[in-house]
Parts: sequence; C-alpha cells; structure tokens
Amino acid sequence: MCGIVGMIGKRQASSILLEGLRRLEYRGYDSAGIATICVGSIERRRAEGKLDSLAKKLQEEPLSGNVGIGHTRWATHGKPTETNAHPHATDLVAVVHNGIIENYRKLRTELEAKGCTFESETDTEVIAHLISDFLRQKMTPQQATAAALKRLEGAFAIGVIFAGHPELLIGARRGSPLALGYGDGEMYLGSDALALAPQTNKIAYLEEEDWAELYADRIIVHDADGKVVDRKVLTTNLSGALIGKGQYRHFMLKEIFEQPTVIADTLAPLASASGVLGISPLPFDWKEIPRVTIVACGTASYAGVVGKYWFEQLARLPVEVDIASEFRYREAPMPEGGIAIVVSQSGETADTLAALHYAKAQGQKVLSIVNVPQSSIARASDAVIPTLAGPEIGVASTKAFTTQLTVLLCLALSAAEARGTLSAERIKAILRALHEAPAQINEILRNENRLQELAQTLSEATDVLYLGRGLLYPIAMEGALKLKEISYIHAEGYPAGEMKHGPIALVDENLPAVFLAPSDALYEKTISNIQEVAARGGKVVLVSDKDGIAHVGAKTFFNIPVPKAEPTVLPLLYAVPLQLLAYYTAIAKGTDVDQPRNLAKSVTVE
Ligand code: G6P
Repeated sequence: MCGIVGMIGKRQASSILLEGLRRLEYRGYDSAGIATICVGSIERRRAEGKLDSLAKKLQEEPLSGNVGIGHTRWATHGKPTETNAHPHATDLVAVVHNGIIENYRKLRTELEAKGCTFESETDTEVIAHLISDFLRQKMTPQQATAAALKRLEGAFAIGVIFAGHPELLIGARRGSPLALGYGDGEMYLGSDALALAPQTNKIAYLEEEDWAELYADRIIVHDADGKVVDRKVLTTNLSGALIGKGQYRHFMLKEIFEQPTVIADTLAPLASASGVLGISPLPFDWKEIPRVTIVACGTASYAGVVGKYWFEQLARLPVEVDIASEFRYREAPMPEGGIAIVVSQSGETADTLAALHYAKAQGQKVLSIVNVPQSSIARASDAVIPTLAGPEIGVASTKAFTTQLTVLLCLALSAAEARGTLSAERIKAILRALHEAPAQINEILRNENRLQELAQTLSEATDVLYLGRGLLYPIAMEGALKLKEISYIHAEGYPAGEMKHGPIALVDENLPAVFLAPSDALYEKTISNIQEVAARGGKVVLVSDKDGIAHVGAKTFFNIPVPKAEPTVLPLLYAVPLQLLAYYTAIAKGTDVDQPRNLAKSVTVE
C-alpha cells in the first residue's frame, strides 16, 4: 500500500507534496513524511499518525527546497513509528517506496557487512543504502539507481532525491503503479493521477520495470534495459479540487447517499429505461464462452459472487468466482476460449492485478469492471466497463459495490440475450426493475433514522451473524464485512441453509442474527432458520419486504423494511440498510468510520 509523491520545479516542494499526500491518504494513514533538498543536503520531516500530524510539524519546522518526495504509510515491515516512517535516507539519498522488497534481509546483511548502519525496521531502507553504496563507487545518481533496481526483488514504486543534486528526481516502478505529471517548468510523480490533479492533468504512466529522470523542464523515461522510451502523455479530466463531505459527517455516509445517483449514472450507458441493452461490443462472443472466471478482493469479490448467481441463473453460463489472493497461486486450469471478469474499485489491488495477469497467461480474454479508468487493472484489460461511482473516499466500499452489481447484472443480461436463455420480455422486465432500484434505494435512505436505534444494540454485541440465501447470501457476507471493517465487531456472513452446520452453536440471547429474507421463493426456508434462532433466544433482526415482515410468525427483535421488487435486483436494495447499520453501529462505538484502524482503501501489496 502506501502512497508516494514527488516534485521538482520552481515552487517550494513541501506544500505541494503535502497536498498530493492528502489525496493519497486512502492508501494508508499510519504515518507520513516528506524530504527535500535544502541547500544541497537532504532534510526530512516525518510524523507518526495521520497526515495532520505531519502538517503540524511542517508548520512548526518548515521545509524549503524545490525538489522533494513524500509518503503516506500503511505499515508492512516495522511498527508505524516516526523512525519507520518514510522517506528513508542516508546522507546521500532519500527514498519513498510503495510495495515490498522481498530480498531486503539478504541485502541488509550484505550492506551491514559493508558498514552501513540501519535505523529502521523497514524493507525500504535497504534501497537508500544500496543506491548510496553505488554512489560511493563513483556512479552517477542515474547509474546508481539503475544498478540498485537490478538488485531488488519484489514490488515497488519509488521516488528518490539526491544530496547535491537539486536538479534531479528519479522514479521507478515494478509491480506498483507510478504516474508522471507534466507541468509548466515543474514535473511530478505520484502513486495515482488523482494525487497530481491539483498540479497537472497531463499524465503518463510508467510501465513495468521503467524508471524515469525528472528535471524541472523534462522527463526522460528508460525501460528495464536502460533504453530511452516514449510513454504516452494523456490528458485526464480529474478535478483538482479536494473532494469534500458536503453536508455529511463522513465520506461513507455521503457515499451511501450517493448510490441512487451513481447507480443511475452507471446504468445509463448500459441499458435504456425502456429495457434495451446498449453494452458496447466486447472482444468475445457470449455464445462461444465455456466458462467465466470472476476474480476480486474484499467487497468487490462479494459483488463477484452475486455476479456468479446472475450469470448462472440468467445466462446458464458456468461461473467460477474466487478471491484473487487464492486464485493467483492455486494454478487453476482455465478453459480455452474462456473469459475472466476482474472487479475492482481502485483498479490497483495487487492480488487482483496478479490474478488478471495469470488469466491472460492462460489465454483468457479479460474484461474488467473498475471505478478508476486509468488504473493498472483497466490498462491491462482487453475491455473495460467502468462503474461511474465517482471517487470513493471512505475505506469501507459502498457505492462502488452497488455500481459493480449494476454492471454485472447488465453483463449477465447481455450474455442471456446473446445465448437466448431469457425471453426479450423477461430481460426488459429485469432492466425496468433495475432502473427502478435508485428510487427504491431512496426510499430506504429516507428511513435511515430507525436504524440508529438498532445500531445502539448492535454496538454492544461482540459477534453478529448475517444470514441469507441465494442472491442474498453474498449480501450477508458483505453486510458482515461492513460491520467488522468499521465497528470492529466480529461478524460472519453465512448461507442461511448452512446455519445448522455450525453457526447455530453461537446463538444465545446476546447474539444478534440479521436475516435477509425477502418474500420470494426461498422465504419459507429462511423462516424456518429464523424460528430456530428465535427458539434459542437469539435476537432476530429481519430485513424483508412488508409481506415478509407480516408473515414471519416468530418473535423478531427488530424489523428493517425494504421495498418489494423483482427478485433479481434485490441484492442492490438489501445491501443498503446493511451499510447504514454498520455506519451507525460504528458511530455508536465512536470508531473512525472513514479511516478504520489497520485498513487501507487500496491494497497494493500482497
Ligand atoms: C480493501 C478495501 C475494500 C475493497 C478491497 C478491494 O480491502 O478496504 O473496501 O473492497 O480492498 O479493493 P478494490 O479496489 O480492488 O475494489
């Protein structure tokens, strides 16, 4: 994880770097630091905790210099202390790093034997010592960096500055993303284009193993062999303004409330309100595909599970869905002519990106569903369908999830249309229901106050069970994930039918069990599970439509009404009250909703 920025040019670097770091805080927020070259030597300011601590330190001890690098950290090696905070430096170089250097122990032993003294527990510090070692062998900064890169194993995006060289900033990448920004007499680097948006919208992306020399007026990019190469400069339409919370107390709440709008935005280019699909041609034919493989991490993986149910039910297309960190190593055979669908909000999740490369190597066409169109995953895919959720800042994913569902359902319907597995009328009916979902979500959002009462009870629980069947089983898992991410309460999402094979042992009068039970074909089955929990004194929370609530026939602790809808679109509706429930439970517990402990929004390490 971690976010890095760098700049070289006319203005004072530290405030520009700090602004860039604010936009990268989603990548980690346990410590931060900045280094510049001041009168020829390296100067650093670093602070434990959120970026505000660093900002305060910079106010007390400002940093001058027109070239610098900055870092916001999500700890991998070593505790989040000031000593472990980046930039790491010797008297010759300072380095910021996103990624993991896998052979750092070996390198450290080697460098210590040469007399280098390490001050941190990080893997990154070896990069600073390694480059310094080459500099001492009379190499130029460029030669020393290129030589050091050859010794590193693992994943990295780095920024390096050099004592005595205020005219030079070097960036390099392998496995982690790095964007270059072209300004007017000023050049930048950053983990993503968003970090650079206040300064420039002219962006180029380094490719695998590239490294770049940045000067105030030009950038020279080299490939792994040192050859000078051209990397296309694109113009992004990212806004330079920092995204605000508007009238909301937290980004997460704002993003929950944005869902009706962003679902409609995502849906508009994919299907008309009258129920006609408009997906642009894809580089494969749904009729020819033997199997779809969906890979993703976290919340996106639960969207993938819903997608599996849709593809199988609607298009009769077999789907395998897997968590990217498992998939990438389990050497799964993939059928000839198959496709992989990769789902990711950030488009930068390291395991998901690696799974994508594995699928490609297995001859699959890759279609990605991403929220960041210039991301590594989007760029490596054969086709991309974007979710138009807009920037998602809250670490716990909400609007990205429901827009991913929107795209997956349209894809499943388009596969059904091509394969002739659903009638045109049925496809129209489902699409009309999907178009109605934003209004129905608005209805759920209007009743959010009621959930605050329930959240109070949930905040006192140590464990919570979420149970659902069919399309709502993955929503149960997503609901449980939301709760644990931001309220730190242990929660499990389970298929309701599996409850008797384990989770029922947890039931006592202290255990809230949240049942997702619309009055659909599986209603009666789930009602039996509700009876079983109620009979054992568990606190049943029923999420259902009016009919489902009226006919439950067991004592429930709390009912959450959800509008009745075409069963196919229910995952979009049922996800929303669970997001709100997690949100208000976290509020009741007083946790940091937007930046929960230990998590990061974009997980760029394995
Ligand atoms: C992290 C985030 C989750 C997200 C997951 C996958 O764990 O905290 O909210 O679902 O990564 O991220 P992606 O960007 O690939 O969707």
